[in-house]
Amino acid sequence: MNDSTLPMTENENRAQKLYGGLWELFTDEEYERFAKWMWFDYYKLSEPVGRFMKDAAVLDAGCGGGALVYTSLLEGASRVVGIDLSKDALGHTRRIVDRFAADRADRAELKQASVLELPYDDATFDVVYSAGVLHHTEDPERGFRELIRILKPGGIVWIGLYGAGGLLSGFLIPGARAFRNIIPEEATRKVLDLLKFPALRRYEVLDAMYTPYRYQYREPEVHAWLQRAGLIEPLRTDRALHPLVRRTPWINGEGWIGMRAKKPEA
Ligand SMILES: C[S@@+](CC[C@H](N)C(=O)[O-])C[C@H]1O[C@@H](n2cnc3c(N)ncnc32)[C@H](O)[C@@H]1O
Repeated sequence: MNDSTLPMTENENRAQKLYGGLWELFTDEEYERFAKWMWFDYYKLSEPVGRFMKDAAVLDAGCGGGALVYTSLLEGASRVVGIDLSKDALGHTRRIVDRFAADRADRAELKQASVLELPYDDATFDVVYSAGVLHHTEDPERGFRELIRILKPGGIVWIGLYGAGGLLSGFLIPGARAFRNIIPEEATRKVLDLLKFPALRRYEVLDAMYTPYRYQYREPEVHAWLQRAGLIEPLRTDRALHPLVRRTPWINGEGWIGMRAKKPEA
């Protein structure tokens, strides 16, 4: 249960409650495998972001159950800060890190905070990323500007956002979301349990249906964010790496938009 002291809007409170309960769908062992799958296979961050991790100060904004806090420690970061609205998510992160990265768990710092108002000074971190979070906030570009503010000159930022279009994002997910005020989350959870959906599929359905905000983007919109923030060397990390998604735009639309960029040296 969340015993938050962080002031939150009603929608933020709904989001943190939803996510607070999602990580426990996995056993710790399943979650550890999920973490590695996300880093190495799904977001494919090991090369484009992982190579900047060694001895770096890293922020994971919206760390959820801690998957990428854990993998950042494995990649050799010297300090990994995970922030999230949900205290339950932070508790899960601590457990995962203590269990699976025990020899370096003291490098992880966890704090309840919003990506829209990060409690860190300008130019604090070498690497900043946010995987699947900004599109769930009231003002995603404001959150993005916060990430850039706390990034050091010469530092690396990576964001992962839902892409727009295709059958999935253009039709099926908006269709399912139309029912979210009619079918309570608890009822959907029970049905997914009865149908014996695997943890990851249950997580995906609940995430798609019940988050208060779910913005979706086209690549040029994301480039416009980078440009307005004065970033350089943009690299779309997923498109080059997921040919299957590229070949099925009628299903996946833009797919997942992962974008890395650099803050110019001062
Ligand atoms: C889809 S999950 C992604 C978690 C993690 N980044 C990952 O890739 O597994 C979204 C997370 O963002 C958090 N979140 C939502 N709005 C937030 C905000 N304004 N500030 C910080 N975290 C937020 C939620 O509590 C949730 O843990």
